Amino acid sequence: MPFTIAIDGPAASGKGTIARALSQRFGFHHLDTGLLYRAVGAKGGDPLSAARELQPGDLERSDLRSNEAGQAASRVAAIAEVRAALVEFQRSFARTEPGAVLDGRDIGTVICPAAELKLYVIASDEVRASRRAAEIGADAAETLAALRERDARDAARATAPLRPAEDAVTLDTTEMSIDEAVAQAIRLVEQRQ
Ligand code: C5P
Repeated sequence: MPFTIAIDGPAASGKGTIARALSQRFGFHHLDTGLLYRAVGAKGGDPLSAARELQPGDLERSDLRSNEAGQAASRVAAIAEVRAALVEFQRSFARTEPGAVLDGRDIGTVICPAAELKLYVIASDEVRASRRAAEIGADAAETLAALRERDARDAARATAPLRPAEDAVTLDTTEMSIDEAVAQAIRLVEQRQ
């Protein structure tokens, strides 16, 4: 049986960094599920067709990291049919041997409710905005406003809203270095192996 790690949390909380580090440490596959929604939003046109016809190459566009792409992703992610079109791909990815790490908003609650480990990664709004602004070379105040707007939409939507699974372990990375956050996450995986 593959080992599945589900990592959720608001934008720029550190979940992607932790997911990548865990996948390297344990030799697991990694899927950044936000990229699926970013690619659907960036395609333009009918979002449901874009989701149904999504190709691996669509995830490699260089403009997917911007604040604008994040906003477009969060708008198409509120459409139940778009989410439904992406479920099977994510679930089969989660079953790849020897294990998989998926990060997003609904991995522990909807995509992989039986994951061996569920993490919910959070950090203060200001820390998240300054990390993301540095990463993409954008203005910190503009990034803060964009993150807040996106989190509010993601938490308020009817289908698969942003929230921790009941059995998720919350990791607050506000005061943690990347190394500390990764070390804690590694310990949690080892406890469950
Ligand atoms: O994780 P990232 O910030 O790249 O995600 C972009 C947007 O995609 C999120 O704001 C959210 O609306 C949507 N998303 C989602 N469910 C996921 C991953 C991302 O709704 N599992």
